[in-house]
Amino acid sequence: MKTLQLDLGVKSYPIYIGQALLSQAELLTQHITGKQVMIVTNTTVAPLYLEQVKSLLASFNVAEVLLPDGEQYKNLDTVNLIFDALLENRFDRSCTLIALGGGVVGDMTGFAASSYQRGVNFIQIPTTLLSQVDSSVGGKTGVNHPLGKNMIGAFYQPKCVLIDVDTLDTLDDRQYSAGMAEVIKYGLLGNLDFLTFLQDNIQGLMRRDKALITQSVYQSCEDKANIVAQDELESGKRALLNLGHTFGHAIENTLGYGVFLHGEAISVGMLMAAKLSQIVGDLNQQAVAQVQDLLEKSNLPISVDGKISASEFLSAMSVDKKVIDGSIRLVLMKRLGEAYISDSYQKEQLDQVIGDFC
Ligand code: NAD
Ligand code: GLY
Repeated sequence: MKTLQLDLGVKSYPIYIGQALLSQAELLTQHITGKQVMIVTNTTVAPLYLEQVKSLLASFNVAEVLLPDGEQYKNLDTVNLIFDALLENRFDRSCTLIALGGGVVGDMTGFAASSYQRGVNFIQIPTTLLSQVDSSVGGKTGVNHPLGKNMIGAFYQPKCVLIDVDTLDTLDDRQYSAGMAEVIKYGLLGNLDFLTFLQDNIQGLMRRDKALITQSVYQSCEDKANIVAQDELESGKRALLNLGHTFGHAIENTLGYGVFLHGEAISVGMLMAAKLSQIVGDLNQQAVAQVQDLLEKSNLPISVDGKISASEFLSAMSVDKKVIDGSIRLVLMKRLGEAYISDSYQKEQLDQVIGDFC
């Protein structure tokens, strides 16, 4: 097992990464306060891992809530099911919530923890590649609104993140590829060595070589933890983690949640960001081709296939959280491995990229 630390002063916490971690009770129990533990999971993950996690918690008063599975349920009604379970079981302020599942479960559990009795203890056990490399780390929590993705939420840090890469054994190939999009993101935005590692090892990663996966999860979490430690509340550098996201959120919002998986939408979004970076004169054609090649080798989509019109796309982009005072701030790439935040591109340049992809 390897341990990373996310340094946030009194809110610092460890990220444990390795195999067979769901059989090590002490890793988890040392971060539990009080006696009452609510495991929040969903109907897909529960049959796979709930009993295993419960078996680590023999000395606690454990309850569970099983949420419906899917991005379309990432809303306030579903968060209310968590509050119902907490109140029905008379959980007090000393309780601990454990998120057991992918990013949807993690984001909703964190949001519930941030607001139940004005904030209770919270632990992340992410079980998808995407949640292991991104959503479980850094404290962004929340839900979707019909008019915009992740529009309701809070920054709320967990007490620890426990990443057992063995849980990926049951993840289907499409979800695994979606997670690879966020892994590739770290290489593109700030770590050229990691990007080269991914290009060199993409076949092994797609064969799910455990050592390569563990190394990639570790590197992704380390890169994210470094950025979050410098800018927890996204007043600057953290926005780089949104590479491809303003484009991607527009795809998710327009097609309806769940049609494109989040990571799939980010894949298209990152390629759009690469193309815009080329049009503004930063990336060359060969660099854009490298981005496309890595996404394709990860079995990720690279276009929206005519499913969205250019005007729909642009209007969806303008409700993203990255819109400040009406201008759409985008993460572009100066070169591979070096992203920056821009609102100085020309509107016609953005229109050209959207037109090409739609
Ligand atoms: P998800 O939570 O919907 O999980 C994908 C699917 O895999 C679901 O059907 C789930 O039940 C299933 N699943 C989970 N673990 C499994 C396992 N081990 N074996 C088999 N099936 C399993 O999707 P996701 O990709 O994990 O997360 C996407 C969400 O994360 C989006 O809502 C996105 O907005 C959010 N997100 C948040 C952040 C953040 O910083 N908070 C960052 C990135 C993404
Ligand atoms: N997923 C982007 C962030 O955590 O900031």
